[in-house]
Amino acid sequence: MTKTFHSSGDVIADRRADYARMLAEGGEHEAAADLMMQALELVPDWAAGWDLVGSYHEKAGSLAQAISAWRRLEALDDDGIFGATLKLAAHDAGPAGRGTAIGYVEALFDQYAPQFEASLVGKLDYRVPEILDRMLDEEMTRMAISRFAKAIDLGCGTGLMGQRLRRKVDYLEGVDISAAMIAETARKGIYDRLQKGELVAALNARRADADLVTAADVFIYCGALQPVLAALMPALRPGGLVAFSLEAHDEGEEAIFLRPSLRYAHGVQATRDALVVAGLDVLRFDTAVLRFDRGAPINGILVVARKPPVELTAANDGGEGDGDVAA
Ligand SMILES: C[S@@+](CC[C@H](N)C(=O)[O-])C[C@H]1O[C@@H](n2cnc3c(N)ncnc32)[C@H](O)[C@@H]1O
Repeated sequence: MTKTFHSSGDVIADRRADYARMLAEGGEHEAAADLMMQALELVPDWAAGWDLVGSYHEKAGSLAQAISAWRRLEALDDDGIFGATLKLAAHDAGPAGRGTAIGYVEALFDQYAPQFEASLVGKLDYRVPEILDRMLDEEMTRMAISRFAKAIDLGCGTGLMGQRLRRKVDYLEGVDISAAMIAETARKGIYDRLQKGELVAALNARRADADLVTAADVFIYCGALQPVLAALMPALRPGGLVAFSLEAHDEGEEAIFLRPSLRYAHGVQATRDALVVAGLDVLRFDTAVLRFDRGAPINGILVVARKPPVELTAANDGGEGDGDVAA
């Protein structure tokens, strides 16, 4: 799925939009928004045009006008690919909805896929796969796990996490919502199986056969953690591990909020609570800088947790030990 940024279908409107883009690139965002409004007089139902007006107003600091453009966009954006609902929610102008904004995330990464690694690793110092992999290695050593029989890498993207997992997993699966990201990773031949799909739906369709589930920089698009963990638990074998990252916020007690970046940030205590509610044993709960965004460090939470090896019953509730962990 791609966003139709390039043409409004009207030559004059396109010319105005091109000029507006040049103004915006030169930092003249208010003038760019004015010119885009002139383009939209010719093509009032051009969704991508309203998206541009909203972003120019936002960059100019004219939030009320940005919100009014996004409301117009929301009415035109049937598949949700422009993320109008999220943009409104991130500015307290509407509810975000539940779970991943599928159309938006799919379109975002379909568009981003060819530059993803150069941008994230090359420019933004993205470190999540490296940190999660190191934490996993340390836990494997501590628990005397030599290998995992089967692992699922959720939101596998271009395979940066899979590359690191490969040497310790016999059968490695990747799931991603974006066909273009899947195509990038397929070329590398890292995974034994790749599936294009939304991760909660993909997890719901499985039985308990995974010894490891990873999600590097993925749950930040999924909203509340509890429904994701509830879908993940049945896919894990008893004793199986899960390793994932979140962006962290320090806004007091709030469980979760949507940032203007349209990525969710999770609270530290709320994350701990969600792990307990899901029934996971927390092995590691670290915080670290995950990457940079517009020059600012993005702080994150990194978790390694385990599905308990055995069901605790009145009869065997006498101390759990390390149990037979998947290996
Ligand atoms: C920031 S990238 C990270 C990719 C990879 N895990 C890495 O560390 O390089 C996030 C990936 O998660 C995918 N994604 C986000 N939400 C998803 C969902 N609900 N279901 C499946 N894939 C999702 C995106 O398409 C994208 O490829």
